[in-house]
Amino acid sequence: MNQTDPFYITTPIYYVNAKPHLGHAYTTIAADVVSRFYKMLGAPTYFLTGTDEHGDKIAEAAEANACSPKEYADEISALFKNLWPKLSIANDHFIRTTDESHKKVVADILQKIYDNGDIYYSEYEGLYCVGCERFYLERELVDGKCPDHKKEPKRIKESNYFFRMSKYQQWLIDHIEANPDFIRPKQYRNEMLSFLKEPLEDLCISRPKTRLTWGITLPFDDNYVTYVWFDALLNYVSALGYPDDEKFTTFWPKVQHIVAKDILKTHGIYWPTMLKAAGIPIYNTLNVHGFWNMGDAKMSKSLGNVASPEALLDKYGVDAYRFFLMRDMSFGHDSNFSEESIVKRINYDLANDLGNLFSRVIAMSFKYFNGVVPEPDATLMEELSLAGDATTALDIFSTEMPLFAFDRALKGVWGFISRMNKYVDETAPWDLAKDEALTPRLKTVMYNLLEGLRVVAGLISPVMPGTAKIMLEHLGMAETPMVLSSFNQWGALPAGGSITKVKALFPRIDLKALEATKEKAAPVKKELSTPLKPEISFDDFQNLDLRVGTVLDAEPIAKANKLLKVTVDLGEGTPRTIVAGIAKSYTPEELKGAQVVVVANLAPASLMGVESQGMLLAATKRKNATLATFAVDGLKPGTPVK
Ligand code: MSP
Repeated sequence: MNQTDPFYITTPIYYVNAKPHLGHAYTTIAADVVSRFYKMLGAPTYFLTGTDEHGDKIAEAAEANACSPKEYADEISALFKNLWPKLSIANDHFIRTTDESHKKVVADILQKIYDNGDIYYSEYEGLYCVGCERFYLERELVDGKCPDHKKEPKRIKESNYFFRMSKYQQWLIDHIEANPDFIRPKQYRNEMLSFLKEPLEDLCISRPKTRLTWGITLPFDDNYVTYVWFDALLNYVSALGYPDDEKFTTFWPKVQHIVAKDILKTHGIYWPTMLKAAGIPIYNTLNVHGFWNMGDAKMSKSLGNVASPEALLDKYGVDAYRFFLMRDMSFGHDSNFSEESIVKRINYDLANDLGNLFSRVIAMSFKYFNGVVPEPDATLMEELSLAGDATTALDIFSTEMPLFAFDRALKGVWGFISRMNKYVDETAPWDLAKDEALTPRLKTVMYNLLEGLRVVAGLISPVMPGTAKIMLEHLGMAETPMVLSSFNQWGALPAGGSITKVKALFPRIDLKALEATKEKAAPVKKELSTPLKPEISFDDFQNLDLRVGTVLDAEPIAKANKLLKVTVDLGEGTPRTIVAGIAKSYTPEELKGAQVVVVANLAPASLMGVESQGMLLAATKRKNATLATFAVDGLKPGTPVK
């Protein structure tokens, strides 16, 4: 690639249904590292990240938090946006799918594909779970029931809009085969090719507003909103001001997308076929990385095993955090996260290898030359020069970074650092200092070490920009332009320059103390999506009268499609009438004979013109209710429940 070719890098736009964690931080730091690397090459770069804010997941999270989807999205989106500068992430733009400019591009592109005839309207019949608000395939059910709600889904017919994705199947296979770097690393390219051996189905790209309103209205039918992935993927072009903005004409399609393997199919199949259908050039490369796991499970908010970036940042500092993530994961493969592994990286690679070398060399420069860069002796240069080792590190760095092999690029730099540590031991400056005749040799050794550290600062700068800056400042080179050509010319450090004293770059961390605090640490408490109410006394609880009730009958209530009028025997002679919001989850027939828990001393209330004389207990999630019942049948109606 030509070094001045424009370079566009993107991360997935993250869902706003959960706070950012280490997994999101990894992808975004990787994109930042690549962006800084291409800036070093002198390329015009554009780095995009943002948030994905429409769809079921967000509507559900907002409902659980009792606020509107937009309010919820504003709050969580800001958490992502505000975290990135703390991680030294320098994105050029932060897109939100609720931005008006994005919504307009989505509508324009949908209209274009619709006009071309690649979107059609059709009836779909399938098994639909009300609780999940989605269709299930027969094989996804467990004993014929939804695995989450343990209920049989309903067979419903629904009309929707479909994108003719199947039409582009052969074209996509040919495109992947003709472009070996289209999806990388190779294992993910192979995975897509083998997926494409089966017939590709058309993609349902609409959701009727009767079951989801939180989305972008279809431009050709305002009874529907756009399926969230069709909306989200288009962020990569809407952010550049598709179709006329100069940013779009400069950077598209010179893009490198970074995603993890969870969203390989959407990016490897949906996205290129959408672009093809819209007549937009196909993106350059999809770079796919593995998962950060904790224990044996993928780190994810729903599993509650997430490592909060802020906590680790406060403890270890941003550069150590970035270094750990880039050095420990081999791009494309999974990695296991533990705090011990961060601490080990800090102690061995940063404190011992780099930090010690830096402070030793600076301290010796003060001891032998009062903090002034010595003039090397030209005649000794051939014997003592570290230029060849620096070139090896530079070569590895320049080869591996464009492949996103950050671990190998850093290994190359650390190869040079250990060479310098050995060089100190081999040349033994403390012995050279004892003999004045050896001063030219001492000067040459110290010059090589200082110059080597300057090159190291440049090579670590995409990953550890703060540390690189500090190192260059101490070497008197704070003004060095952050371009590769500043670092690949050996001897650019001017003799006579002043050095400044330094404290430890990376203090060592006591691993034993960490283990001790971990043992004492309280077990992690998971946050409930519906927060707990304030504590009550036992007496408060005693005031509640809960009883076993047997359902005698149930019937719908006119004009109230969520409510059922339920007749319940509490053993009082006259049965009670109770209005319950369970019509979406139970048919009247299903309820007859069920034994339920009744709040028996609740003041009566009138609901849709019917007096309700109590309440039924149920677990509710969204519109789905599951009544509290008993493990055995045949309880006496009216039995107290405590
Ligand atoms: N909103 C979609 C993406 C739309 S892009 C047009 C989405 N969002 S997400 O919030 O679930 O983010 C998924 C991405 O977050 C992964 O692809 C990856 O980049 C990052 N990660 C989330 N958890 C991760 C790990 N445990 N490990 C590594 N990366 C992880 O999908």
